[in-house]
Amino acid sequence: MSMAIITGASSGLGREYALAAVRQHPEIDHIVLIARRADRLCELADNLTHEPNNPKKVTCLPMDLTDINSRFQLECFLKENRADVRLLVNNAGFGLMGEVCELDAEKQANMVSLNCGALTALCAMTLPYMKKGSVIINVCSIAAFVPTPRMTVYCSTKAYVFSFSKSLREETKKNGINVLAVCPAPMDTEFLSVAGIEGKSRLFDRLPRVKPDEVAQKSMKKAFAGCAVYTNRVLYKLYRVLGKLLPHNWLMGMSTV
Ligand SMILES: NC(=O)c1ccc[n+]([C@@H]2O[C@H](COP(=O)([O-])OP(=O)(O)OC[C@H]3O[C@@H](n4cnc5c(N)ncnc54)[C@H](OP(=O)(O)O)[C@@H]3O)[C@@H](O)[C@H]2O)c1
Repeated sequence: MSMAIITGASSGLGREYALAAVRQHPEIDHIVLIARRADRLCELADNLTHEPNNPKKVTCLPMDLTDINSRFQLECFLKENRADVRLLVNNAGFGLMGEVCELDAEKQANMVSLNCGALTALCAMTLPYMKKGSVIINVCSIAAFVPTPRMTVYCSTKAYVFSFSKSLREETKKNGINVLAVCPAPMDTEFLSVAGIEGKSRLFDRLPRVKPDEVAQKSMKKAFAGCAVYTNRVLYKLYRVLGKLLPHNWLMGMSTV
């Protein structure tokens, strides 16, 4: 059975990736949904079974991906199912707004553990179950392009994801496996309240929003077409170019949230 694994599927962008996988890839017959909130995953699983191209099987794995034992369970699950993974979407992640010295130390360390550690472990444990034509989508952010004061740890985790994804892509090319870093701009999801951003940053409030369903659908197409990076909207593509051309010390005045 050809499998898709989607992390952070209980809300926002992850939910849209699950729907896009079912709608765009009818050849995938087993969808695996991961996040901590089991009720949300079950609700989505039920929705997926009502889609016209409904997959043969949907498995919900409620787990905290920062927990090493949970990740070990996932590795056992892949082995037991002799998985044939066609798609892995590493989407689970969160941010926190505030200065490093103001924010809770352990919460910031946990963010690194989820955004970087879990994503790395999932790529490593899943690659042996992938073959030619398989795809990994790592959810990054426009915050990866330029350091973002007051979201210092978050933007640093996403800079890691960006660099990791591009380098991993070079390693997996020889096996016909593509890795795409998707860099969304602000989206109206639970991310904003979890990060404590809502109504607290004038810059963030003014930035044009992108739609999670559009990001999921378009980036999925780009990933299967062999692209390395996807950012939507001209404004944010330009921001990426500026981040490459100009000294970050100049740009940080603009990027501070
Ligand atoms: N929204 C934006 O403005 C924006 C912009 C750029 C990039 N992004 C990135 O997009 C991705 C998705 O975020 P979103 O906007 O869709 O926000 P969201 O709605 O808050 O989704 C985050 C997902 O991650 C899951 N998650 C959080 N901690 C977890 C843990 N320890 N173990 C397993 N799952 C966990 C959450 O589910 P549970 O709570 O049920 O575990 C949820 O499903 C993130 O990587 C984020 O950094 C977001």
